Amino acid sequence: MGILQTHKLKPGMILAEEVRDINGRLLLGKGNRIEPSHIRIFKIWGITEVQVFGAIGIKDKPESHVNPELIEKTEDKIKPIFVHVDLDHPAVKEIFRLSIEYRSRNHVLEKEAALISAPDSQKDHNNNKGFLKKLSEKKINLPEIPSIVSELNEVISNPLSSAEDIANVVNKSPSLTATLLRIVNSALYGCPSKIDKVSQAVTLIGTKEIFGLAVGISVLSIFKKIPKEIINMYSFLRHSIACGIVSRILAAHKNLPHTEQLFVSGLLHDLGRVLLYIYSPDDSLRILHNSRKSEKLLFEEENEYLGCNHTHIVQYLMQHWKLPIILENNVFYHHNPIEAQNPVPATIVHLADIMVNALGMGSSGERFVPPLNYGAWEDLDLSTSCFELVVKQAIHQFNSLETILQG
Ligand SMILES: [Fe+2]
Ligand SMILES: [Fe+2]
Repeated sequence: MGILQTHKLKPGMILAEEVRDINGRLLLGKGNRIEPSHIRIFKIWGITEVQVFGAIGIKDKPESHVNPELIEKTEDKIKPIFVHVDLDHPAVKEIFRLSIEYRSRNHVLEKEAALISAPDSQKDHNNNKGFLKKLSEKKINLPEIPSIVSELNEVISNPLSSAEDIANVVNKSPSLTATLLRIVNSALYGCPSKIDKVSQAVTLIGTKEIFGLAVGISVLSIFKKIPKEIINMYSFLRHSIACGIVSRILAAHKNLPHTEQLFVSGLLHDLGRVLLYIYSPDDSLRILHNSRKSEKLLFEEENEYLGCNHTHIVQYLMQHWKLPIILENNVFYHHNPIEAQNPVPATIVHLADIMVNALGMGSSGERFVPPLNYGAWEDLDLSTSCFELVVKQAIHQFNSLETILQG
């Protein structure tokens, strides 16, 4: 089996791994003979390489060049972060296996060691159980919704709006326009030719999708100043971006229609923590310190200390800002998806969060792998056999997107 660039494919070769388009739709299944029409379709969809069986002259993809000793060492080191999950559960077992492999290849443990901080706050040890009340009584002044989001909301709600109308609003913000265009030209979409106008992006990718991306980018950009003694913002952004990407890919594997919604939900899922870190740094330090000492999950510590957790905080913000209800559904229930009104997308964000915590792709402050809701997992009806491909696709997209969203 080997990897071959699409332009080097020859008719008659046999596909060794299924190929999907940017929305995760199957283009050609494993074991099929590649015909000229398939090669053309791969090129149209921007598929740059595929895996084929038995082609002469193809450099075999190294299955594993990770030292077995390192694998063993990694397994021992990461077991403690899986204490809140059942390693015998088939989904968790597969995530654990992929996590060992990814972390060994990418030396994630060393990187994490440099990022984890658990400072002890010398401030008062009393808890702050009325945090939500303070929010609702406006004792904490939250930022206003970016005006561009409200304007876009208006344009989107008007059925007569054209791609040009949406583009006119986005174009008012040069930074949003630049980020949006860089995203649609990234590996996330794999478009065969360069898109250099927002209106073109709207036509190609869709109105709601572009609106979702614009909301995600605008919201994330106003919360970039987490005090560095609490958590590393770079690591937080990595966690958010990775969760967005994995959510989108899982949604595609489930054949859900609005994959961008899932991307934005993943991107914003832990936004409540950003609010907490920025607007209540002392409480945040205490909660992080407590969780390091108690070995409890961070959201449990939040519940204990604040009487609410980061999902309640972000729900408040999303309602305050009148963001789409589906985003609220996915973000508010990401730790308890079975209770969601629309449990499938909420479970996808839940699963994506577990995966990226397990893989160690950034951190929002939580150092454990959050528990899998087994009922929601059953209802999702997804095979664990797709996890390996999901992780591979996610890593590929993540590498091209992280620099764009951090800019
Ligand atoms: Fe969370
Ligand atoms: Fe998270």
